[in-house]
Amino acid sequence: MMMTSPHEIDLPLPLATASLAATRHFRSLRRLAIHMMLHHDGLICNIILNHINCGGYGRVMNQHDAVPDWASGRVFDYPRGWFVVATPESIPASEAVALPFFGRTLVAFRGADGDVAILDSVCPHMGASLAIGGVVEEGEVRCPFHHWRFGPDGRCSHIPYSKLIPPQAKVHSYPVREQNGLVLLWFDPEHGAPDYEIPDLDDYYDQQWVPWAIVRRDIRTVPLEIVDNIADSAHLGPVHQSWPRVFEVEFDGHRAIQTQFASHETLTDIPGGEMKTVATYHGPSYLLTSIEGRYRSWMLLAHTPIDQSHVAVWYGLMIRSDDGVTPEFQEIAREYAAAGQVSAYQDVDIWENKSLSERPALCRDDGPILDARRWYTQFLKPRARAETSEITQ
Ligand code: FES
Ligand SMILES: [Fe+2]
Repeated sequence: MMMTSPHEIDLPLPLATASLAATRHFRSLRRLAIHMMLHHDGLICNIILNHINCGGYGRVMNQHDAVPDWASGRVFDYPRGWFVVATPESIPASEAVALPFFGRTLVAFRGADGDVAILDSVCPHMGASLAIGGVVEEGEVRCPFHHWRFGPDGRCSHIPYSKLIPPQAKVHSYPVREQNGLVLLWFDPEHGAPDYEIPDLDDYYDQQWVPWAIVRRDIRTVPLEIVDNIADSAHLGPVHQSWPRVFEVEFDGHRAIQTQFASHETLTDIPGGEMKTVATYHGPSYLLTSIEGRYRSWMLLAHTPIDQSHVAVWYGLMIRSDDGVTPEFQEIAREYAAAGQVSAYQDVDIWENKSLSERPALCRDDGPILDARRWYTQFLKPRARAETSEITQ
């Protein structure tokens, strides 16, 4: 048996063939597997059960980590795009900070110019982690094992006991931006340069606005569950107590834009009061929503994969005061943001306990969920294969 990744096992041909055939006899095979597990070696039985649980593909995944191939052409485990990975204050000068995202651990630190740098943390010398025990020296990170030092560009700049630095002594350095009170990282399995940008929000720096206080919540789910929401009009009433009169979603390149006019009991003054929201995904994870309700506000809901079954969800809400930001208004803003936070995380219990529905039995009025999935798939393919025609059809 050959291991292909921590979560995938290639089956020997006879067993793979047997497993594929077995999906046609789902119930009897499950009974057989449970019987074998009770009476024989558990490994093979686990493989068969996992295979059944993963929908009968020609490979087997760990059932807790499995993300079935819900869209054709999906190639990458994690999508290409800008992702929130930290708040600026969580990366102080002179400290190396471990950032566990995308199924690996990254290391963040501030260079000599004060800018945040983020590198892969596996030291190319002998594999120690730069993130655990790494020390920042003169804007570079020093490995705890033999004290090799790496600069913000990921190159080794100093070996304390040798003048000759091997050319392969470098780690991947991720493009980073500090924007709108957040640290963003460009993740690309192909290591290409960013092909879109997150918009700068002038309002974040405007004195008329109370800036957002960012909250992070880690949840057990996969990103697709969160992305489905952009098109899922029918869950808005049951989950968010919001009944849209108008609900439209448009897919435009790297953006998905949802416009709603809806009653909303949490964020409007009056029962049945209506508010307009325009929620825009800028790439696969950064969802920025303009809200015209009781107050003008911006809501951020950004999600970042931690591994194949956990996602960090970042929330923030900033609010405009027409009459200046007084201490009283700051208290109002705090309460309004707290109400928005309740609304933003209302799906979490459902996400954490549902199954990923690879082939949902949708009805005519469910909203363009499959279009949203097609749009999202562009970030999970090499750029050369993410053709516009496929995305916008
Ligand atoms: S393993 Fe990092 S310096 Fe040796
Ligand atoms: Fe939702």
